[in-house]
Amino acid sequence: MELDWGLGQYEPTGESLLPISEVVVAMSEPLAGKRVVDLGTGTGNAALLAAERGAVVTGVDPAARLVEVARKRATERGLQAEFLIGDAASIPVEDGTADLLLSVFAVIFAPDADAAIAEMVRATAPDGVIRLTSWVPGGSMMAINGAAGKFMAEVFGSGPAPDPDAPKPLGWHDEPALQEAFAKHGFVVELERRSMNLTGKSPEEYLEKSARHPMAVSAAQALASRPDGNELQAELERRLLAAVREINEDPAALKVSNEYAIVTARRG
Ligand SMILES: C[S@@+](CC[C@H](N)C(=O)[O-])C[C@H]1O[C@@H](n2cnc3c(N)ncnc32)[C@H](O)[C@@H]1O
Repeated sequence: MELDWGLGQYEPTGESLLPISEVVVAMSEPLAGKRVVDLGTGTGNAALLAAERGAVVTGVDPAARLVEVARKRATERGLQAEFLIGDAASIPVEDGTADLLLSVFAVIFAPDADAAIAEMVRATAPDGVIRLTSWVPGGSMMAINGAAGKFMAEVFGSGPAPDPDAPKPLGWHDEPALQEAFAKHGFVVELERRSMNLTGKSPEEYLEKSARHPMAVSAAQALASRPDGNELQAELERRLLAAVREINEDPAALKVSNEYAIVTARRG
């Protein structure tokens, strides 16, 4: 089942990812008058930065609660931007309308990557650009999610055998795989790797702040359905703390680095 990103509080994570939207929007300038679609806008980070630069912006997200948060942030800042409920399987814009289609750590969650690429291509103007970001495996974000995923698989099993007809997953950080996937639509891909540091007081504080993340809330709800739910939740927290301590680069506080890929695709 797909995660409901409206669960809990995505907002603090959105704040910590804002510097990446700043990078992505800055490298897409000039934006005045350009039609920008921010797919998987969340709380509207990239959409609002583009609107500040004079773009005509549509933010799209499947999570109705986050769409409301994004609208409220736009109103508070006096920015013009439209926010719609929708996802990568069906982006609610006309064919060829996006001069720039952004997706900051969002389309990577689409269950059918090939269909999502076809849909982004459909929405993009003939001379338009698709720009997305993806975490690179081996980084801390992946290590923490991996520790949680491993524990949940131990508790609930790894689920039914994979369906041979299910859509093929795509490594959204993997340049040759992306070239192949986009080439079907006549697009060429460029990939740039960057790094972002997350800092804080301690691993404990980081985990406390992350406890209301949609993924954490969804895991907690699943564990609570078990009779030994409290013990399981405590064990998950122990494992996560161990995972964060392992990747922490600052013994006196918290510093974890996350490598990510910025992928730019345009018609070749
Ligand atoms: C990690 S958050 C990133 C949000 C925002 N772009 C940011 O930088 O803060 C992932 C976002 O992707 C959205 N999302 C999940 N599945 C999606 C899909 N299939 N198509 C489009 N967006 C999706 C979620 O609702 C969530 O807002």
